[in-house]
Amino acid sequence: MTEKRENWSARSGFIIAAVGSAVGLGNIWRFPYVAYENGGGAFLIPYLIALLTAGLPLLFLDYAVGHRSNGAPPKAYKQLWKPAETLGWWQVCVCLVIGLYYAGVLTWAGSYVYFSMGQLWGDNPEKFFFSTYLQTADTKDFEMNFVSHLFWPLVGVWMMVLAILYGGVKKGVELSNKIFMPLLIVLFTILVIQAVRLPGAVEGLNAFFTPNWAAMMDYKVWLAAYGHIFFSLSVGFGIMVTYASYLKPKTNLTGSGLIVGFANSSFEILAGIGVFAALGFMAHAADKPVAEVVSSGIGLAFIVFPKLISSLGAGADLFGILFFTSLFVAGITSMVSILEVPIAALQDKLKWKRIKAVTVVGGGTGVISIFLFSSTSAIKLVDIIDHFINNLGIVSGALVSIVMVSWFKRMLMSEMEMHINHISTIKLGRTWEFTLTVITPVVLLSTLLLALNSLIQNSYGGGDYANAMVLCFGWGSIVFCALGALVMSRLKDR
Ligand code: ALA
Repeated sequence: MTEKRENWSARSGFIIAAVGSAVGLGNIWRFPYVAYENGGGAFLIPYLIALLTAGLPLLFLDYAVGHRSNGAPPKAYKQLWKPAETLGWWQVCVCLVIGLYYAGVLTWAGSYVYFSMGQLWGDNPEKFFFSTYLQTADTKDFEMNFVSHLFWPLVGVWMMVLAILYGGVKKGVELSNKIFMPLLIVLFTILVIQAVRLPGAVEGLNAFFTPNWAAMMDYKVWLAAYGHIFFSLSVGFGIMVTYASYLKPKTNLTGSGLIVGFANSSFEILAGIGVFAALGFMAHAADKPVAEVVSSGIGLAFIVFPKLISSLGAGADLFGILFFTSLFVAGITSMVSILEVPIAALQDKLKWKRIKAVTVVGGGTGVISIFLFSSTSAIKLVDIIDHFINNLGIVSGALVSIVMVSWFKRMLMSEMEMHINHISTIKLGRTWEFTLTVITPVVLLSTLLLALNSLIQNSYGGGDYANAMVLCFGWGSIVFCALGALVMSRLKDR
């Protein structure tokens, strides 16, 4: 017997879970760094434009697709147009790939809560992160030596995420968000207040808020803004389609979307303020410009923050625990949403019970994730897979879904608009149609072509990785999504 489709207990449950999904690792370490790299204050303008012209319009489209069909992406897109089931499975596979390494980074955040007590990273956090903790292989090739202190916490993270998912939509996903999101807001607010009170904080904030107008002429700044907004809002790879499918029939979709978009961006800007205030403090202490204390991507959280924490004296333990617990808590609720997509898709297609779907998805993905990310190649794999799946996987899935409704199946666009307008307070109209028909496809297509061109011309990693490794894990992730999409969409529904 098939299970009755689950629902959120109320619209507030959905909103809190959608915010929990959007606010994740992307907000706390990725946004501040991307903003800094792309002109500081000038980035905020393209970022807000990207939010308004691509993020929110696609969020509304994802909501309409999921809500109208009561299904995860494969079922939802198939109802719009039969061959589009393949697109749905593509998005499901993108989530599976993201889940693999997201668990890895979450584990680092969790372990750093422990390392914060007594600042176990010592005098050289960079060496500690790469060598002592990750035991990163000193080779360009893939190396699979086992690191036991990565293994056990990773197993713990997977058990925690799966326990939440076994609980179901109301008692697992919704309940965990209701516990973790207020906790995150309290922890992060304390952290930001602490950070802006540090000596030198204002120098960091100046770097963050002072516009660099010249940077806005650079197309890469715009691409970075559009690229970030999808990952950050959890749109274009099935999460919002799935979450909206658990909503009751009469729900104010645009109102909810605006709350989610506003909450996500507020949190992101708050994270920017906290991180830059802290960088200002470090620059002040080292008597260097802010630009010289910033290190890239993953390093910002796991290298620069420990450096900062160590220099805080009496408050060091508390500051470290607050920061890494916030990172962990934000990441857990996003990780749950990422895995909910394949779980819901299998339940729709094969009529599996939740317990079976969670066991198969969690078991399969978890074993591969634990195998890969408790190895001496962990950080290299995060870097390669994240780059390919974000720049090619998410962007192409988002582009195809938009082009399908706005260019090839115009009727669907009107249907979606009618569906939303019928139940929502704020109505969609020509602006929404125009952004999805013209602006978003043009921006996404150029992002995709530029990313593809750069990967084909220069490979990835600037010579840090052997070609075979990029081929296997980078292009391999994309091939996996393509094959997964083709095979699953050809399988008969049960
Ligand atoms: N939206 C999630 C994040 O920002 C995936 O991490």
